[in-house]
Amino acid sequence: MRVTVLKGGWSAEREVSLVSGKGIAEAARTLGHSVTELDLGATAADGASFPARLLATKPDVVFNALHGTPGEDGSVQGVMDLMGIRYTHSGVTTSAIAIDKELTKKILVPAGVKMPGGRIVRSDTLHERDPLPRPYVLKPVNEGSSVGVAIVTDESNYGSPIARSAPGPWQDYPELLAEPFIAGLELTVAVLDHLPTGIGEPLAVTELKPTTGFYDYEAKYTDGRTLHVCPADIPPMVTIMALEQAALAHRALGCVGVSRSDFRYDPAQGPGGLYLLEVNTQPGMTPLSLVPEQARVRGISYEALVGRLIERALA
Ligand code: DAL
Ligand code: MG
Repeated sequence: MRVTVLKGGWSAEREVSLVSGKGIAEAARTLGHSVTELDLGATAADGASFPARLLATKPDVVFNALHGTPGEDGSVQGVMDLMGIRYTHSGVTTSAIAIDKELTKKILVPAGVKMPGGRIVRSDTLHERDPLPRPYVLKPVNEGSSVGVAIVTDESNYGSPIARSAPGPWQDYPELLAEPFIAGLELTVAVLDHLPTGIGEPLAVTELKPTTGFYDYEAKYTDGRTLHVCPADIPPMVTIMALEQAALAHRALGCVGVSRSDFRYDPAQGPGGLYLLEVNTQPGMTPLSLVPEQARVRGISYEALVGRLIERALA
């Protein structure tokens, strides 16, 4: 089969996508497919448009290895729908909702998923007042890999109110999502579609323990910076809830192939202290990424995972 691996792009997660794409392309070749790697962010020598470049690869299926905008927000998916090309992972509507952390809440909370409250704030108001009692988290609504995330605590040297000159996401994004900071553990659950049913099956719960600070971009992609504990050392009830909440989120959003839901769990609040933060429809596939790791724990090799996602795209 001819598989085109779509990677790179121009989001803040371009480098992550290039690494994901490399691993996927190697795996697809090992599976015997004829693979073309296409970097959405590279300019064609002849100035050809993205649809023309994609068409030239004559794909039977596209493996979407993009992260962030526009490969995770439905834009690229819409182009491929119009071109009649099959692709891995979620479609237009699901992607467009899941990339937006605030919009995701509007779907998932009524569906029964517990998520932190919070609100959108204009970044220029942060210099006048805190939007929530400290500690709270500020994050762009539509970035991944913790790009632009800041935790504002009483000890933060941003000052109160945050100084205009202090480096932080308020300098780069006109609006930010403010959410109460949930003390405790960082957890994640991958949900992989079972075949032939297409039903999303949660794989495992992993706890992420950064050696210093929080689980930011550096902790995510620097080998040795974060300890992954899988299965997470949490009460059985919390494990069950995390698996169920991730499967519910996958279903309620209409995710296809695979998704990864990220949680915070505050043990001081008991099982009620589990909060889903976001659903990733294009989760990382790098050697340090969590979906391949959980698949491995469940006896699914990286190659088998890539094969399963291709099969799901064609189902
Ligand atoms: N946004 C990154 C790639 C992830 O969710 O793994
Ligand atoms: Mg994310």
